[in-house]
Amino acid sequence: MIYPIVKFGDPVLEKSAAEVTSFDDGLKKLVEDMFESMYAARGVGLAAPQIGISQRIAVVDVTFKEDPGAKLVLINPVIISKEGRQRNSEGCLSIPEFREDVTRAKIVTVRAQDLSGKFFEHTGEELLARAFLHETDHLNGKLYISHVSALKRDLIKRKIKKMVKAGEW
Ligand code: NI
Repeated sequence: MIYPIVKFGDPVLEKSAAEVTSFDDGLKKLVEDMFESMYAARGVGLAAPQIGISQRIAVVDVTFKEDPGAKLVLINPVIISKEGRQRNSEGCLSIPEFREDVTRAKIVTVRAQDLSGKFFEHTGEELLARAFLHETDHLNGKLYISHVSALKRDLIKRKIKKMVKAGEW
């Protein structure tokens, strides 16, 4: 099932999501649906709050279907190490049509649980490192625009307000 993507302005995007405690068939189905919804929206990462479900689950595929082995499910993810710096353009499915340069760590290790509840660690570089940070932020109620200057952030928020008024958001 393809879920609609929740957009900026919905409070679910700005609250901390709940820990996953039950690793059952419902979780498996939800993760399948999250991949489906992410691909339909042409994204490379999706956090559960972005489909209105406030739970600590994220899916990532920085190859966008090229490599089935690149599909990652992160349940209750925690960033355990960050190294270096990269600055690149970043966007978010919940803030469509906007992109901003964001400075992030270049090499990032995440510790998370898989669908069976087993803990694992995964180190990513470049875009994957960025995805780990971006999606983990989502689960903490934080959006990438919190990493840009206040000036740029206010500009984006003003534009979104106008779009909301015009019924375009
Ligand atoms: Ni996002």
